[in-house]
Amino acid sequence: MSKFLLLTLLVYILTACDSSITEQPRLRESFNAGWKFSSGDIENAQNVSFNDSEWRALDLPHDWAIEGPFIQEVNYKGGYLPYPGVGWYRKTFKVRPDTKNLMIECDGIMRNSKIWLNGEYIGGWPYGYTSFSIDLTDKIDREKENVIAIRVENQDNSSRWYPGSGIYRNVWLTYTHPVRVAHWGTFVTTPTISTELAMVSVKTKIQNETKEAVTIDINTTILNQSGEVIADQGRKEVNIEAKGNVEIAQHLEVDNPELWDVSSPVLYQAVSLVYLNGKLVDKYETDFGIRYFHFDPDKGFFLNGKSLKLQGVNLHHDLGPLGAAVNRRATERQLEIMKEMGVNAIRTAHNPPSPEQLELCDEMGILVIDETFDTWNEAKYAVQNDYSIWFDEWAIKDTEALIKRDRNHPSVILWSIGNEVMNLDTDIGKKNAQMLADVCKRLDPTRPVMAGVHNSIIWDEDLTNIFDVFGMNYWQNSYDSIHAQFPNLPLFASESSASLSSRGEYMFPVKEAYSGYNHPSKQITSYDIVNTGFGALPDVEFELQKAPWMAGQFVWSGFDYHGEPDPYEKGFYPAHSSYFGIVDMSGFKKDRFYLYQSQWTTVPMIHVLPHWNWEGREGEVTPIFVYSNCNVVELFVNGESRGKKEKREGIYRFKWEDIEYQPGSIKVLGYNSEGVVLCEKEIKTAGAASQIQLIADRTSISSDGEDLSFITVKIRDEDGNICPKASNLVHFSIDGEGTLACVGNGDPTSIESYQLPKRSAFHGMCLLVVRSTKQKGIITIMANSEGLETASIEIKSNN
Ligand code: GAL
Repeated sequence: MSKFLLLTLLVYILTACDSSITEQPRLRESFNAGWKFSSGDIENAQNVSFNDSEWRALDLPHDWAIEGPFIQEVNYKGGYLPYPGVGWYRKTFKVRPDTKNLMIECDGIMRNSKIWLNGEYIGGWPYGYTSFSIDLTDKIDREKENVIAIRVENQDNSSRWYPGSGIYRNVWLTYTHPVRVAHWGTFVTTPTISTELAMVSVKTKIQNETKEAVTIDINTTILNQSGEVIADQGRKEVNIEAKGNVEIAQHLEVDNPELWDVSSPVLYQAVSLVYLNGKLVDKYETDFGIRYFHFDPDKGFFLNGKSLKLQGVNLHHDLGPLGAAVNRRATERQLEIMKEMGVNAIRTAHNPPSPEQLELCDEMGILVIDETFDTWNEAKYAVQNDYSIWFDEWAIKDTEALIKRDRNHPSVILWSIGNEVMNLDTDIGKKNAQMLADVCKRLDPTRPVMAGVHNSIIWDEDLTNIFDVFGMNYWQNSYDSIHAQFPNLPLFASESSASLSSRGEYMFPVKEAYSGYNHPSKQITSYDIVNTGFGALPDVEFELQKAPWMAGQFVWSGFDYHGEPDPYEKGFYPAHSSYFGIVDMSGFKKDRFYLYQSQWTTVPMIHVLPHWNWEGREGEVTPIFVYSNCNVVELFVNGESRGKKEKREGIYRFKWEDIEYQPGSIKVLGYNSEGVVLCEKEIKTAGAASQIQLIADRTSISSDGEDLSFITVKIRDEDGNICPKASNLVHFSIDGEGTLACVGNGDPTSIESYQLPKRSAFHGMCLLVVRSTKQKGIITIMANSEGLETASIEIKSNN
């Protein structure tokens, strides 16, 4: 053995003896792998001796409702997916031999979870969106195997949208020392910020689970994005009585702070180090940002001193064909698509989001309205089993859990304590509002409190006193009068527009329509001229948003979601998902995406509609709309200019309404005021479908068993033009280190399975989502369809 090797070995042995260096002070492990599942209620399934060998083996997160099939009889609100019912999960596991304190953390279980450990009931949580933890320290067997059993029950009529079913978010096991930072035990704020200096206040709650009083040292440091310690408060001695806890406030200074902003989301990390008898017993990390903001009743929203119009969307929690099961990459993809459109804010309609969604918003620079409930003490419409069944007992606990979990996220700017609570303007409604607003203020005095308020509510001084900001849902007809009546109240549209369309559908003649729209196809034209009776076209809202006092809008909705297929709600089976989305369920952009992009972004873009395959409509009027942020646009039909149009105040689309269809091409150019071409787009009449094109959003993914590649499947003619009417059934095969996650096509009336390796195209496109395995390697995907050339693509799964 060389001298060098000997020396290395010696150093290793010496450090291994010093437990403060090698011992993990806190370990948070995924508890997702190796579960057994069965739907239906099963007697004695909580017992250790219960035989689950016939149950299905799976890893979490899991949403069993998305597996379908669609069932017509099931409550239409859930989008015909069978979400109601009872299901059981079991897992047999061993804990680490040196386990001291242990807790299970559940990010969300849908819903009514009841949990048993080794046959003993240990707790659960009714509301499916709330994260919670249960201490297992005294109940766990450290030598032998343990059995955890979780029963979930999702009643019918429990939600106005598709909630999913089961343990649909991540589950963790967290090992700690008995003297440790409490669960969600830190609160980081930045009371003063200047260019030179930021004061960072870190409150840390430390628990002593031992039977002896202890004296500990707490040391808080701050790390920058490169992981360098840039502030160190030094050790501070603190006494904690037996089975007691203390909260310690520490103040640190950050020189020349880099602010968290939507364009540069800089994050810092506070590290709380707890020492007992000189030995490190806990290390707790809290990501945070340094930023300040306020709402001004006359001038709107300001972030870091600069005016920023909130360009927001509402997002439900489902991930389209993946269902409600949380997935980081799928969530990131949704946010990326929204950002590309110019979104700088989201509202988590109408429930606590997944932790992953907030982490991503922190990292990507997206502001968040973090919302608790869709209802309070009164059920909404026919949804008798909604949150109202738990409100009295649980509302405070759920609100506390949300705020404690989320108050360190720089992205979160508002607590929303409810959506369209229909008795908000009654005595009981105001009492509940005050009660929940007080919870928010007690746990986080730094953020304003709001609610998404229905436009039938009579807003008054009482409500003005309870809320800091007025979130208006579809008050577009009274923005001015509300501002005049409540001049000191900051205003914004927490829901706006609610326009409707199906991707790729165009219907003639082109004329604006409101509620009551009814087409035999159960689709809605994508000329972006249909909205609900209570909403308004995007153009109307763009105009109203010009008011300087208007802080911004949150469009209903960023993505389509399962449920609420308005206007085809009841009796229109199989219409099962919304038409509100700016983007469809598969993540494909509808025309409306470009309308928003033309107003919300500045990099030159141009978009033209409809498609140009109108066989049988030759000579008939086929209006052409162009969405662009350029000052001047010009249209060419079959090579002939149909004139230039200039941007005009208050007009948000360039329209040529008298074009008669002849096959060929439509081409649009976007110019700046000097006549320089900045962008262009051409659409040609496609011939017969001849080939399949596979386009992966990422061709290299992580081999972690969770990462996804989203593969867009396009049906093209032999010249490569997309066939806008193609509905070919495409079959997929997946070989190598990947599995099928789901398929989809964005058609709100399609009830094809999300989980079979085949899908019909909808207007020339469908989606295949592939999941990595835990092995590195290549994933080979083949796509074939009768009469079309076969296509293939390779994805590397390698890191
Ligand atoms: C709002 C409601 C949303 C959604 C939307 C579209 O009134 O807050 O949850 O239902 O209408 O119908």
